[in-house]
Amino acid sequence: MDFKNVFDKIRVFLESDNLNKADALKGVMEILKEKVYHYDWVGVYELDSISKNLQLGPFVGKDTDHVVIPVGKGVCGQVAESNRTMIVQDVKQESNYISCSIDVQAEIVVPIKKDGVFVAEIDIDSNSPSPFEEADKTFLESVADLLSCYY
Ligand code: SME
Repeated sequence: MDFKNVFDKIRVFLESDNLNKADALKGVMEILKEKVYHYDWVGVYELDSISKNLQLGPFVGKDTDHVVIPVGKGVCGQVAESNRTMIVQDVKQESNYISCSIDVQAEIVVPIKKDGVFVAEIDIDSNSPSPFEEADKTFLESVADLLSCYY
């Protein structure tokens, strides 16, 4: 996987004129889903710091029932608490996991930080077994850095 090419594509896309936050997030989710074979569902959850819930933002993939996730619940909620990337290579082994689809085998969740503080996250489900490598983490953390300017 040539993450550098995908990253360049995302950077060029974000330099387009007149991109509002929703367009920017949606466009980046579309590029990730289209360009990386093992990314099957790609979305953003944003923290509502008053209710302490994560709220689903732009996503690409099947509809999910999990539009609101409490902080601490599931892989997404754990990352909202830890503010650190979490990789689950086999969702069947993760006890604090919220299932969206029986097709999903693995998940990576990467925090988006504003001045170091958790504000949102990129959530990616994969239907492939143990698909994530260190390169996915490095790549997606760089993408999250690019997206932090929208918060
Ligand atoms: N699996 C996530 C829930 C969100 S869906 O993947 C879209 C979790 O455990 O937090």
